Amino acid sequence: MITDRLPHVFYGGDYNPDQWPEEVWEEDARLMQEAGVNLVSLAIFSWARLEPRPGEYDFDWLDRVVDLLDAHGVKVDLATATASPPPWLAKLHPESLPVTREGVRLWPGSRQHYCPSSSEYRKAAASLVRRLAERYRDHPALVMWHVNNEYGCHVPECYCDTSARHFREWLRARYGSLEALNDAWGTAFWAQHYSDWDEVNPPRATPTFPNPTQQLDFRRFSSDALLECFEMEARILREITPGVPVSTNFMGFFKPLDYWKWAEREDVVADDSYPDPSDPEAHVGAAMSYDLMRSLGGGRPWVLMEQTPSKVNWRRRNALKRPGQMRLWSYQAVARGADGVMFFQWRASRAGAEKFHGAMVPHVGTESSRTWEEVRQLGSELGRLDALLGARTPASVAIVFDWESWWGLELDSRPSADVRMLEQAMAYYRPLFEANIAVDFVRPDADLSGYRIALVPNLYMTPDDAGERLGGFVSDGGALVMSFFSGTVDRNDHVRLGGYPAQLRELLGLRVEDFDAYAPEQRNHINVPGRGAFECDLWSDLIGLEGAEPLATYTADFYAGRSAVTRNRFGRGVAYYLGTRPEPGFMDWLLGTVCSEAGVEPALEAPDGVEATIRTNGGREYLFVLNHGREGADVRLPGGWRDLLTGEGREGTLRLDPFGVAVLERA
Ligand code: GAL
Repeated sequence: MITDRLPHVFYGGDYNPDQWPEEVWEEDARLMQEAGVNLVSLAIFSWARLEPRPGEYDFDWLDRVVDLLDAHGVKVDLATATASPPPWLAKLHPESLPVTREGVRLWPGSRQHYCPSSSEYRKAAASLVRRLAERYRDHPALVMWHVNNEYGCHVPECYCDTSARHFREWLRARYGSLEALNDAWGTAFWAQHYSDWDEVNPPRATPTFPNPTQQLDFRRFSSDALLECFEMEARILREITPGVPVSTNFMGFFKPLDYWKWAEREDVVADDSYPDPSDPEAHVGAAMSYDLMRSLGGGRPWVLMEQTPSKVNWRRRNALKRPGQMRLWSYQAVARGADGVMFFQWRASRAGAEKFHGAMVPHVGTESSRTWEEVRQLGSELGRLDALLGARTPASVAIVFDWESWWGLELDSRPSADVRMLEQAMAYYRPLFEANIAVDFVRPDADLSGYRIALVPNLYMTPDDAGERLGGFVSDGGALVMSFFSGTVDRNDHVRLGGYPAQLRELLGLRVEDFDAYAPEQRNHINVPGRGAFECDLWSDLIGLEGAEPLATYTADFYAGRSAVTRNRFGRGVAYYLGTRPEPGFMDWLLGTVCSEAGVEPALEAPDGVEATIRTNGGREYLFVLNHGREGADVRLPGGWRDLLTGEGREGTLRLDPFGVAVLERA
């Protein structure tokens, strides 16, 4: 379980009592009790109220809130409130404000207006955090720390002079000498050679493509600079309240932060998730993020920290979740490893930029409110799921995913701007999602021995030992599927020479001579003997075989007849290579074949639109069945089950309503 301070599925939301007169707090606490709320993320944006003037703190109001909540059985995920500094900080220290790549300073008036490298910001944040921790260290309501909020959400990087100095320090630590930096950055190109550290800057606005390795290092640095802020707070919290877990909220596949590195420093992984109800496919992307969250924590339960009960306000058009959709999407997170379901936010604001954002208590109030009814129902249901706490998700398939490679793949000056990491990952993920086959995400240096299949979408940048690692996995009997533009460069973004993908050629049994990037409307086909032709687009590798067998060949262009997809037996395993982007039907077929060859089974054979996952806890097995379809669905259950939401036994055919959910325990 996440913490024995709250041995239940977390349920609640962001609570901003400082937006309301004190009379409302009583009602809040009473309604929270009614809704089954057991946890709130408290005071995330309260810095200006907690420290109205520099060094002058006011915790009295927060004391009253925390006591009131505790008296109503509501625990607290206490925020450190450092995501939005008070206006006085900018007035006293304008240099603490962030600056964009173009040199524009960002002012207070919204939120997140701080430079992560600013010592004034860090100093002020640290003293607030220390005071909060000292004040609430022994409070029985304190269950978890909510550090800052969505690091990097609006300002993932800062280009000011302070950041430039900090970047230089970071580079000195990484390279040791200016010569090593010149070498790594390839500064012989375009007369970029540096003779003095003070000449080195962030990749500010330049006449044309800035140095790619400089860009890459600045991404690494910017993720690290924010991580330093997190760690600074976490250190204080762990010193003062050693038993209280420390977390911050992630944002799914958020490109600017290397969440592999971040998650190592957290006690609990938490995610904010806002799938668009107007997108009929939104649940597929959500599932992929949830699998990432579970994987970031090494399989440990995570918390869905924010979602909306009804609608957001920040899209151009903000569709309402349909009746039952919030419940369904909440269970989707639990089905994929979450032990907590929380919302933004508890009570809908009257003022400010988020007043039209949905909330557990909507503007209309609780009477005859569909949202409120759904919120209450979910709270009561989650209260029946304590048996799940700590349950794991067994998976035999791993998708190799790496932030640094993602950054490199999508830098400017690449062969095609249309090769996008998440689209490529989704091309692999979707067929498995639709087949109800469990997937973990892993980093490129992960131990793969627990998996039968490793999928490697476009791993552009590979560690030096990628050949041995992936080769070892395959020769020990694993199946690997890799796509084009993988293994192309080292960690400095220098090309590995001698034919792509140099270190992996032996494993794949081929050599890529060159590649052809397609125009957006351009199509080709690949022919699979015995199965016919499939469309492909985006990219074509020109492959020379060195032991691999062709599985599919191009039908058109000057490379017609040459291999597009290959298979290579290697040791006891097999390595497939995709030199192009085939249509989804091909991916269904290929991954279906790879799974059945490897003996990887779905959680459940279910009709289209029905998602099924398994979690296990000790010897107990739980099956989640979720109907994303707009029609009812019949599902054949293997063996006998007990429905945890209704207490009834289930066997044979399970009937699910549209957006229906079943959480079953094997009888
Ligand atoms: C999140 C943020 C919340 C709130 C919410 C609205 O990004 O953490 O504070 O702004 O979005 O959807």
